[in-house]
Amino acid sequence: MPTTTMTPEQEPQNVSLANSRFLRACRRESVDTTPIWLMRQAGRYMAEYRALRERYTILELIKAPELACEVTMQPINAFDLDAGIIFADILPPLEGMGLHLEFIKGEGPHIDNPVRTAADIDGLRVTLPEESLWFTLEAVRLARRELDGRGLPLIGFSGAPFTLASYAIEGGSSRNHVHAKSLMMGEPALWARLMEKLTEVVGQYLLAQARAGANALQVFDSWVGQLSPDDYRRHVLPYSQRAIGIARQAGVPVIHFGTDTNGMLELIRDAGGDVIGVDWRINLAEAWQRLGNGVSIQGNLDPVALFAPWPELRERARRVLDSAASAGRPGHIFNLGHGILPGTPVDTVRRLVDFVHEYRVP
Ligand code: CP3
Repeated sequence: MPTTTMTPEQEPQNVSLANSRFLRACRRESVDTTPIWLMRQAGRYMAEYRALRERYTILELIKAPELACEVTMQPINAFDLDAGIIFADILPPLEGMGLHLEFIKGEGPHIDNPVRTAADIDGLRVTLPEESLWFTLEAVRLARRELDGRGLPLIGFSGAPFTLASYAIEGGSSRNHVHAKSLMMGEPALWARLMEKLTEVVGQYLLAQARAGANALQVFDSWVGQLSPDDYRRHVLPYSQRAIGIARQAGVPVIHFGTDTNGMLELIRDAGGDVIGVDWRINLAEAWQRLGNGVSIQGNLDPVALFAPWPELRERARRVLDSAASAGRPGHIFNLGHGILPGTPVDTVRRLVDFVHEYRVP
């Protein structure tokens, strides 16, 4: 869907959408107040989500478009957020490639046939997202319709090739990424073959979400901070760059997020993205200074701050906002530095969202 050629006459309801705070901030345009959404804003900290999870597994929720749409709307109904994010996970694309994915209670994701050998990598399928991830594309269409009435944009997302490679090789979450990094360091040609397949899957999946109606796309490279800048440059950057390049054909803004990226911030920017997401381990103004004028910034409150007493949290949120304002240019999207944690008090989330909207820089 070529959004660039769309006229207001054709899509009247999208005029306010294109002018929404969130999309304006993605484009580095001025806003009436700072937009805010929260990574993992739909999830276990909400009673409505837990109630659905008593009846369905997480994969069942993701694969039933109407349920995924319902979960997407839960935080939108509860808080004055500036964008929805489609309810899905970064790992189902690996299932489409032939890996057996399950989520084990109290443990997280588990893959019982991880990729370790050349034969494993050659056996991975690269299928069209319309075939293997149709449920999320359909959920995007449904959520887009729900959000239209409220003038709110919808964010689609994917894991980045490296973070997906880590799960595919390790078979689950990992502290040191020993298997993944060993393949990268010891068998660079094999690593490249795997990354090429993942890049194609990620790029096409992002593009398909935008074509189904997502107004922005976020690439999660959650574990990229585990790499040296040199390894990132050689073994990861070209693939993230290509995946983001494919996604950008849709003409919607791309948010490029990683954690622990202090040592490679400029490289993350060079890999692409209209908005760079940073965590709390770096001062936001300093990060934005390093990133330069060409990108917006998203972040970067420590998710644990939502467990602090309100005056302390307010002070920390204020410091993030003041830090962004000190840059003297538009383009800040308030978010946490990583996903919201289970157990976060719902009333605190509401207070934080309202505080960000009401705050005016002194
Ligand atoms: O932001 C949103 O509201 C959209 C939903 C979303 C989920 N996962 C739902 C989910 C998003 C954007 C993700 C991304 C995701 N998934 C990432 C990247 C972001 C990050 O946190 O770094 C990663 C690494 C994953 C992989 C994943 N999914 C893990 C490691 C786990 C288990 C750990 C945990 O938090 O339980 C999941 C499960 C998961 N994905 C849950 C949710 C709401 C919780 C599972 C449940 O309902 O029991």
